[in-house]
Amino acid sequence: MTQTTSSLAQRQLALEIISGGTGLLLALFMWGHVVLVGSILTGERGFDWLATALEDYYIAQPTVLAILFLFLVHAVFAARKIPAQLAERKRIAELAKGLRESGREYVPTRTAHSPFRPHLESMLWIWQVRTGFVIFVLGSFHLVLISVDIFTPLFGTVAGIESVSSMARVQQGLWIPYAILLLCVEFHASVGLYRLAIKWGADKWLSRPTLHRMEQVIFWVVLGLGALTLVVLAGLVDPPLAFLLEGGAS
Ligand code: HEM
Repeated sequence: MTQTTSSLAQRQLALEIISGGTGLLLALFMWGHVVLVGSILTGERGFDWLATALEDYYIAQPTVLAILFLFLVHAVFAARKIPAQLAERKRIAELAKGLRESGREYVPTRTAHSPFRPHLESMLWIWQVRTGFVIFVLGSFHLVLISVDIFTPLFGTVAGIESVSSMARVQQGLWIPYAILLLCVEFHASVGLYRLAIKWGADKWLSRPTLHRMEQVIFWVVLGLGALTLVVLAGLVDPPLAFLLEGGAS
């Protein structure tokens, strides 16, 4: 009996490590992604130089496959916590509605933790699941599109990412799914890191409110950079850092 309980616990730990580890790697990748795609802020020349370098040195090709793999593994292992039954999902929806309306009333408290704290944590979890669904659909589409772009000459004139074709597809309407994906990914990643930090004991060193504030700073900074990148890709704003590459050889 004890042995069964311990092997069950070991299995759960292994599953936690896989879903948490892949989530952590994807969140770290997304910070790198913001910087790489953000090279468009220096203009088309900076973006093309970086994309060509990553492809010429065979960094982009294995990376896109590794991210696709991590993305699928994370989706499968993290999804085990999503209530599968329709009745349970309905219950979650009711719970979300209840939580949205609760906690608005003033309750005097002298304790360090507000009695409504658990509501915030539950709301974060529910939105984690909702954004996860959106990311699965839009992220899969984006990863397939980018893989086709990197490995085939279907977009543009050669195989590989080019600013001309990237900007053209964003301007032709892809900015809409990208804007939704950006919002969901940044929320999902920053809340995911916050939950991971608490799960693995970071709240022994930093209080939960501090960790939550850190999560919010990360969310707004990365979302801001991503949004600026998107409006530049959409051609609505000129690259604000173009002056950095002015005067260089073309
Ligand atoms: C190695 C894998 C990836 C590569 C090479 C890549 C590359 C790119 C490129 C070149 C763009 C510019 C638009 C375009 O060309 O269509 C872009 C935009 C974008 N990508 Fe990715 N991407 C990767 C993975 C991901 C993943 C896993 C996500 C999230 C699930 C994601 C989310 C976004 C978003 C939201 C944008 C819009 C621009 C922004 O505001 O950052 N990408 N990506």
